[in-house]
Amino acid sequence: MAYPPPLPAVAVHALAIGHGERPSPLVEGIEFSVAPGEIFAIIGCSGCGKSTLLRTMVGLLPLLAGTVLLFGKKMVTVDCAGHGALTRNFSVLFQGGALWTDRTLGENVALPLLRRGGFSPKEVRDLVDCKLSLVGLGAYADFYPHEISGGMARRAALARALALDPPLLFLDEPTSGLDPVAARRLDRLVAELCSCQGMAAVVVSHDLAEIGGIVTRAAFLDANSGTMLDIGSPAALARSPHGAVREFFCENHANPQPEETVP
Ligand SMILES: Nc1ncnc2c1ncn2[C@@H]1O[C@H](COP(=O)(O)OP(=O)(O)OP(=O)(O)O)[C@@H](O)[C@H]1O
Ligand SMILES: [Mg+2]
Repeated sequence: MAYPPPLPAVAVHALAIGHGERPSPLVEGIEFSVAPGEIFAIIGCSGCGKSTLLRTMVGLLPLLAGTVLLFGKKMVTVDCAGHGALTRNFSVLFQGGALWTDRTLGENVALPLLRRGGFSPKEVRDLVDCKLSLVGLGAYADFYPHEISGGMARRAALARALALDPPLLFLDEPTSGLDPVAARRLDRLVAELCSCQGMAAVVVSHDLAEIGGIVTRAAFLDANSGTMLDIGSPAALARSPHGAVREFFCENHANPQPEETVP
C-alpha cells in the first residue's frame, strides 16, 4: 500500500506581511513550502522583512493576506503570552537568541519542559543533559549566561529550542555575530538534526555565505519591489534573472569566510 506523501512542515500561500501601523504590505505574494528534513532559507538585505515574515509564520504578527499552514494546520495569531500553548510542533530561535540571565543554562533548557509538564524531575535532568551535550555544552549546565561566550550562549539557546524535539525549527540570524568556526559548527548541528531526525528548519539570514552550505532552497525578499523576487537552490539563485538577487550573491561572495582550522 502506498503511503500518502508527508504534509509540508510549512506551506505559505499568497502571503502579505507588514506592521499594523503601516498602510501597505511590506512584502506580498510570498509563496513557498518546506518539506520535513529540508533546510529552507529566507534571505534578503537588512530591513526587507525577513524577521517580519518569521514572526508572521509563527503567529506573533497578524498576516495581512494569504495563509500559513504548519503541518497542514492553519497558523493562528496569538499574543506573546498565549504563544507557549501553541508552540507544540515548532520552536523558534529568535534573532539574538536571548537566554534568561538570572537562570543557569540548565534551568534555561529545562524551562520548556517544565512549561509543557508531564516530565519527572529525573526526566527533566536527563533531557537537559542530553540537549546541552548535543550542542557541546554538557559541562556547563550550572553556568550563568554572563559566564559564557556569545557563541556558547547561542548554542545554549539552540539547546533550549530543541528541548521538546520539535519537528520544525525557525531560526532568525542564528550565526550572526559568531566567528566563522562557531558559525559553521552551529550550521552543521542544524544540518545533522535535519538529516538524522527529519526536522525541518527555516533559517532567516542576510548573509548566504554563512548558511549557503546547508540550505537546500532559499526565498529572496525584496523591499524595493515589495515582493518575493526569486526562489530556488543557492546555485540557481546565483544565476537569477533578477539583478538584485545576483548582486546580493556577489556581495556575499565578495567576502568569503576564512577556511576552518579547528575540527
Ligand atoms: N514593530 C514594528 N513596527 C513597525 N515597523 C517595524 C516593526 N518591526 C520592524 N519594522 C519595519 O519593518 C521593516 C522590516 O523589518 P524586519 O525586522 O522584518 O527586517 P529584516 O529583514 O529582518 O532586517 P535585518 O536583516 O536587519 O534583521 C523595516 O523597515 C522595519 O523598520
Ligand atoms: Mg531581522
